[in-house]
Amino acid sequence: MAKKKKKEKETTRQAYGITVLKASDKRVRQLKKNFTPFIHGNKFWNSSWCVMDFLSQQGLPSASRVLEIGCGWGLAGIYCAKNHGAEVRGMDADSAVFPYLNLHAEVNEVEIETWRCKFEKVKKKDLKGTNLIIGADICFWDEMVEPVYKLIKKAMKVGVGQVIIADPGRPPFHALSEKVIKKFGGEVKEWKIDEEVNAEAFLLIAGSLPDTLS
Ligand SMILES: C[S@@+](CC[C@H](N)C(=O)[O-])C[C@H]1O[C@@H](n2cnc3c(N)ncnc32)[C@H](O)[C@@H]1O
Repeated sequence: MAKKKKKEKETTRQAYGITVLKASDKRVRQLKKNFTPFIHGNKFWNSSWCVMDFLSQQGLPSASRVLEIGCGWGLAGIYCAKNHGAEVRGMDADSAVFPYLNLHAEVNEVEIETWRCKFEKVKKKDLKGTNLIIGADICFWDEMVEPVYKLIKKAMKVGVGQVIIADPGRPPFHALSEKVIKKFGGEVKEWKIDEEVNAEAFLLIAGSLPDTLS
């Protein structure tokens, strides 16, 4: 009797118009042999879905310049490029995340600029001309609060329109939110999705974007 063929498992998932490769995908497994991210950039984190869902409801003016901080595999930025024609930079302290970002950019047929930098090293001139800053799961240690807050402060000073930071609700994220809202206004929204994907996160949203960019 012929052996039953093993059922092939799906190694990609599609949602919000983008493709995300699972850890079981052979291209990801190949990269894992050579690149080992060391500050938790070893996978795609769920809060990013909430950034995508929020932007799909709010909208993002076409050709917006977006900076994803602590981008890891960069999927939230890739969503902005793919669905809203945004010009995206992915910034991370750990260069080992960029091969995973580049692979996903290729799979999703978008171009994303990568930039190795730490939150604490970002200068005002680096942020000039940026319309939106996004960051998912990037404020998970107490010592991250101050550097991320200072980055947001610089962003607000140079006229970045909006900042969106997503997190499952860890204390450092709430401490950051409190500081940002006290100084610049904004709000924390509880965001839950149970449609295309199941995800929930808190979203710190400061500032706003116009309907179109001049
Ligand atoms: C939990 S991962 C989240 C990755 C991605 N945003 C996501 O949602 O899939 C945190 C990311 O922040 C980066 N990171 C940590 N500390 C950083 C710092 N001081 N400056 C810039 N990036 C940092 C890590 O390298 C990692 O890629």
